[in-house]
Amino acid sequence: MRVLVTGANGQLGTDVCKALKNVELFPFTHDDIEIKSLDSVRQAISSGQPDVVINTAAYVKVNECETEQDEAFAVNALGARNVAVACQETGAKLVHISTDYVFGGEFEYRSVPYTEFDTPIPPNTYGRTKLQGDNYVQHLCNRHFIVRCSALFGIAGSRGKGAKHGNFVQTILRLAQEQGTLRVVNDQICSPTYTVDLAHKIAELITTDFYGIFHITNKGNCTWYEFATQIIEMAGLSTPVIPITSEEYPQEAKRPYNSALDNYHLRLMGMDDMRPWQEALPCFFKELKLA
Ligand SMILES: NC(=O)c1ccc[n+]([C@@H]2O[C@H](COP(=O)([O-])OP(=O)(O)OC[C@H]3O[C@@H](n4cnc5c(N)ncnc54)[C@H](OP(=O)(O)O)[C@@H]3O)[C@@H](O)[C@H]2O)c1
Repeated sequence: MRVLVTGANGQLGTDVCKALKNVELFPFTHDDIEIKSLDSVRQAISSGQPDVVINTAAYVKVNECETEQDEAFAVNALGARNVAVACQETGAKLVHISTDYVFGGEFEYRSVPYTEFDTPIPPNTYGRTKLQGDNYVQHLCNRHFIVRCSALFGIAGSRGKGAKHGNFVQTILRLAQEQGTLRVVNDQICSPTYTVDLAHKIAELITTDFYGIFHITNKGNCTWYEFATQIIEMAGLSTPVIPITSEEYPQEAKRPYNSALDNYHLRLMGMDDMRPWQEALPCFFKELKLA
C-alpha cells in the first residue's frame, strides 16, 4: 500500500508516519505540498500515486482564525476541497482530520459527548472552517474517512501552536516551572487524546472500507482543569491548580462548554478499543523523558 501523509512533521502527522507499517510512505511536509493550491496537491498526488492520502495539514491557531479568516478558510476549507478533488480523480482513499470544535456552538449545558450523528454547530471561526472542509470531503470524495479528534498531545507538539510548547500537557508542565500557581478553566469539557493511539487507529481504519465520519479519542472526558490536575500529579509536582470559569479566561475564539466526542461509529463497528486518556498520559510522559 502506498500512503501519502500531509503535515508529516506536524504533531499528529509525525505519529501517523511512525504508526504506518509495511507501507510505502510519502511523508509530505509543507515544503513538499501546499494544500491551498489544487495544482500543488495534484502534482504531489500524481508523483506519489498513493492508495491512501492522510490529510493532517491544517491552520490550527484557534484564536488567530478569528482575525485571519481568509487564511483559515483557504487552508481548512479549500485545502480540504483540493485534497478531496485530487483523491477522487485518482481513486485514492482519503483520511481527513477534523476537530471537536465543529460542535458546541449552541453554548448550552450538555452532559453527554457528541456522536457522529449529531449535527455540528461550530462555536468559532476555526470550527466553521473545519466544518466546511468536512463538507467538501463528504461531497467530493467517495472513499473518505473524516476523523474528528480532540485535545491532542504528542511528542512533536503542535507546530501551528508553537512546536515544543504546542500542546496542553507541554504547556502545563512549562507553566508549572514558571509560575507559582496555575489557573485553568473548569467549565469546558474535552476528550484528551494521545496522538500515538489516534495514529494507530487511523492505520487500522485505512485497511477497511468503512467510510464515513469517525470520532476517535481516548476514552473518557474531563475539564481542562481536571486534565491539568492529572498532569501535575503525574509529573510529581506540587504546583497548586485553581479552577476558573471561561469568563475569567477570555479568548478571541469562543470555546464550547462541552465538545467531548463519543467514538460511537467505532463502537458500532466493534473497533473501539481506545484506552482511557489517564492510561495514555503516562506513556506520553515516558516519551517526553526519552526525548
Ligand atoms: N492540536 C489539537 O489539539 C487538535 C484537536 C482537534 C483536531 N486537530 C486537528 O488535527 C490535525 C493535526 O493537528 P496538529 O496538532 O498535528 O497540528 P500541527 O502540528 O500544526 O500540524 C499541521 C501540519 O500541517 C502543515 N501545514 C499547515 N498549513 C499547510 C498548508 N497550507 N499546506 C500544507 N501543509 C500545511 C504544517 O506545516 P508548517 O508548520 O510547516 O506550516 C504542519 O506540519 C489538524 O487537522 C487539526 O485541525 C488538532
